[in-house]
Amino acid sequence: MDNRSWMDGTVASLARVPFPIIISLGFLLFRFSLLWVAVSSGIISGKEKKLRVLQGINTPVLLVRGMRLTDKVAIVTGGGSGIGEAICEKFAHEGAKIVVADIDAERAETVAGKVKTIGQKTLPHKVDVADYAQVAKLVQATTDEFGTIDILVNCAGYSEFIPTEELPLDKWRRMIDVNLNGTYYCCIATAKEMMKKNHGKIINVSSMAGIAGVPNNAHYVASKHGVVGLTRALAIDLAKYHINVNCLCPGTTLTPLNLKIMSPEYLAIRAKRVPLGRLAQPEDQANATLFLASSESDYVTGLIMYVDGGMYSLFSGYASSQP
Ligand SMILES: NC(=O)c1ccc[n+]([C@@H]2O[C@H](COP(=O)([O-])OP(=O)(O)OC[C@H]3O[C@@H](n4cnc5c(N)ncnc54)[C@H](O)[C@@H]3O)[C@@H](O)[C@H]2O)c1
Repeated sequence: MDNRSWMDGTVASLARVPFPIIISLGFLLFRFSLLWVAVSSGIISGKEKKLRVLQGINTPVLLVRGMRLTDKVAIVTGGGSGIGEAICEKFAHEGAKIVVADIDAERAETVAGKVKTIGQKTLPHKVDVADYAQVAKLVQATTDEFGTIDILVNCAGYSEFIPTEELPLDKWRRMIDVNLNGTYYCCIATAKEMMKKNHGKIINVSSMAGIAGVPNNAHYVASKHGVVGLTRALAIDLAKYHINVNCLCPGTTLTPLNLKIMSPEYLAIRAKRVPLGRLAQPEDQANATLFLASSESDYVTGLIMYVDGGMYSLFSGYASSQP
C-alpha cells in the first residue's frame, strides 16, 4: 500500500466515526493539555490532581451520553410525594440510581415503580427520618444494594398552621424531630459513607419560612431556620471531604402538602403576589436540585438557593401569608 492510499483509507475510516465522539475526544485532549500545563507549572497537585483527572475523563463521557448523574446513587427522603417525587424522576432521567425513602411505604413503592419505568435501578425504603436507628438502616440498605452513596436530598418534611397560643408541645417536638433532627440524622449518617470516598453532594430542603417568619407556623419556621443554619455549618465542616452541602428554599409549590393546608382561593391570591406571576411546580424545584447534585455545582457549597419566582426580593413578600 503506498502512502497516498494509506492516507485515503485512514481519512475514510475517520469519516465513519460519529461526530460527537470526535468532538469528545478533541475535548478530552484539550482538557488533558490544560491539566498537564496546570500540573507541570505546580498550580495543582496531590489529591486535587486526581480529582481533576477524573473530572477531565468524566466531562466528555457526559457530553456523549447527555446525562448529568450517570451511575450516581441518590437517596431522596420524602421521595414519595411532591417535590421529592419530582426530584426522583428528574434524577432518574439524568441516569441516577434512586433510593426512594419515605415514611409512606406505599408512596415509596409507587415512585420507585416510576423510576423503574424510566429505566433506572431503584430501592423503595420505608423510613421515619426522625428516628436515627431507622436512618442508619436506610444508609445500610443503600450501601448493601448499590455499594455507595453519592447524593442525599433531605426532602422529607411537613407543615401545618396552628396559632402559637394553641401550639401543643408534642406538635412542636414532632415538627423539630422530623424537619430539623431528621435532616441532621440523614446528613451525618450519609456523610460518613461519603467521607470514605472524599466526595458527595447533600441538598437540604428548607423553605422561604427558613429565612422569614410566617404567621401561625412557629414550629415550622423554627425547624426550617434550623435547616438553613445546619446547612451553613455542615458546608464548612464537610468541605475538607469534598462534600458539598447546599440548601434549597422553595417558594410556594403546588404539591399535595400545600393542597392539603391551603385553600385553592388562598393559593390563587399567593400566586398573584409572585413576581414571576405563578406558583412553583415541583419540577421547578427538581431542576434547581439537579444543579446542586451535579458536578456543575462542584465549587458551590453553603448556598441558600431561593427558588421562589422572586418572592425573596419582594420586600414584605410574606406579609399576610395566613391561609
Ligand atoms: N410545597 C411547598 O410549597 C414547599 C415550600 C417550601 C418548602 N417545602 C418543603 O419541601 C419538602 C417537601 O414538601 P412537599 O410539598 O413535596 O410535601 P409532600 O407532603 O408532597 O411530600 C413530603 C413527603 O415527605 C414524607 N415524609 C413526611 N414525614 C416524613 C418522615 N418523618 N420520614 C420520612 N418521610 C416523611 C411524606 O410521606 C411525603 O411523601 C418539605 O420539607 C417541605 O417543608 C415545600
